[in-house]
Amino acid sequence: MISSDKIPNNVDLHLNKRLQRALEHWQPAYIQWWQDMGPQGFQHFHQVYVRTAISVDPKGWAHFEYVRLPEYRWGIFLADPVINRTVGFGDFYGKPVWQEVPGEFRNQLRRLIVTQGDTEPASVEQQRWLGHRCPSLYDLRSLFQVNVEEGRHLWAMVYLLHSYFGRDGRDEAEDLLARQSGNRDKPRILDAFNEPIDTWLDFFMFTMFTDRDGKSQLLSLSESALDPLSRTTRFMLTEEAHHMFVGDTGIGRIVERTAQLMKDTGYSEDVRKLGGIDLPTIQKHINLWFSLSLDLHGNEVSTNAAAYFANGLKGRAEEAKWSEHEVKETAYELDLVEDGQVKRQAVPMRNAMNEVLRDWYVDDCQSGVTRWNKILERYGIADRLRLPDRKFNRGIGQFASIHTDPDGTLISEETWLRRKYEWLPSPRDKEYLLSIMSRPVYEIGKFANYIVPPARGVKGTPVNFEYVRTEL
Ligand SMILES: [Fe+2]
Ligand SMILES: [Fe+2]
Repeated sequence: MISSDKIPNNVDLHLNKRLQRALEHWQPAYIQWWQDMGPQGFQHFHQVYVRTAISVDPKGWAHFEYVRLPEYRWGIFLADPVINRTVGFGDFYGKPVWQEVPGEFRNQLRRLIVTQGDTEPASVEQQRWLGHRCPSLYDLRSLFQVNVEEGRHLWAMVYLLHSYFGRDGRDEAEDLLARQSGNRDKPRILDAFNEPIDTWLDFFMFTMFTDRDGKSQLLSLSESALDPLSRTTRFMLTEEAHHMFVGDTGIGRIVERTAQLMKDTGYSEDVRKLGGIDLPTIQKHINLWFSLSLDLHGNEVSTNAAAYFANGLKGRAEEAKWSEHEVKETAYELDLVEDGQVKRQAVPMRNAMNEVLRDWYVDDCQSGVTRWNKILERYGIADRLRLPDRKFNRGIGQFASIHTDPDGTLISEETWLRRKYEWLPSPRDKEYLLSIMSRPVYEIGKFANYIVPPARGVKGTPVNFEYVRTEL
């Protein structure tokens, strides 16, 4: 990396003046977007102790320092190329990977990159008010760390659009800054990215479940025959891991505080009376965010997914672990809805690629839930948290047309409407959460009453470190 570059990068940007100029032209629009739509109230007088990617060296790819958020050095980093890499799946299996976009797949690839790219700034927009309700400076820092890295992920996708898609790519890059989460005229592409995230329980659930959908998608894109896409997404996964750590441990810390409050009061008191977050409320949020994130994986049976796989654009997560990579003959069994009934059926696996990725995702989510339940066990609490059935509360795919309870049992529309808020957060739940978060905790080393401090601080710092400081 040449540190004097306006845009930090490991792609020799200075050797491609045209591209460099195009990206330097996009940069001020990006900064303007960050100021308008990024963390509200934390743009000018705050310095945040964040990590910044400076290379892709596994031994030291980032450094930590205090930064004013709009001055964060958003860069372009691709993982090192794999020498003689070949296509790992689909019809081009075993052929050399592509360094350029093949004309026949240009539209499909553009659509994949734009859809991925659109989620990155969307999440920053959804979270932009959260700083005013933070449970601690440690958590405030985590929020901003996630936000700046989502910003960098946008850069990663915009780099691909500018580099490989000419004029269309430049237009798409502009549109990525023009759409806005929740905007009626120009919403973000995927529904789940148009809802504001205004409580910290939702934020932790989002980073646990929705960022993990990001991981699913990035894993499958990192298998892509388009080598620059593969390399970009491989490095994004490094950052993504931390986002899920924030969610997983954030929920774990809330669960632990809830368990403490229950134990302290002899397991009889209403946790809400003590200012904590009761287990049923946590469970409802798991139900909500897990089901929303399942939707993000798309239709169970999809000819698009089949084409992406056949053409080498999008593989399965950890493709190398599968024994067979062309998947021409293989069938795959899954639940489908027929005449309002759920039936187990076999379809060609290529058409079920979204569901195959969803399987990977469900397993990955389960490991978090298992960890939270260990906390409950440690406190001698018999209740357990769990993932709802994957048919529950679905808005996309086969199960969008039916209603089930969290066990996956079919129920009528009438029962659903009557019982919905037993399973999903109600307006009253939200009101309660907002009430305990209405006052942010900015004192060094202090934590809100509904969450325990983390086991350790960031990068060797003590938990009572001044992670965000105000300059006046
Ligand atoms: Fe991201
Ligand atoms: Fe993320």
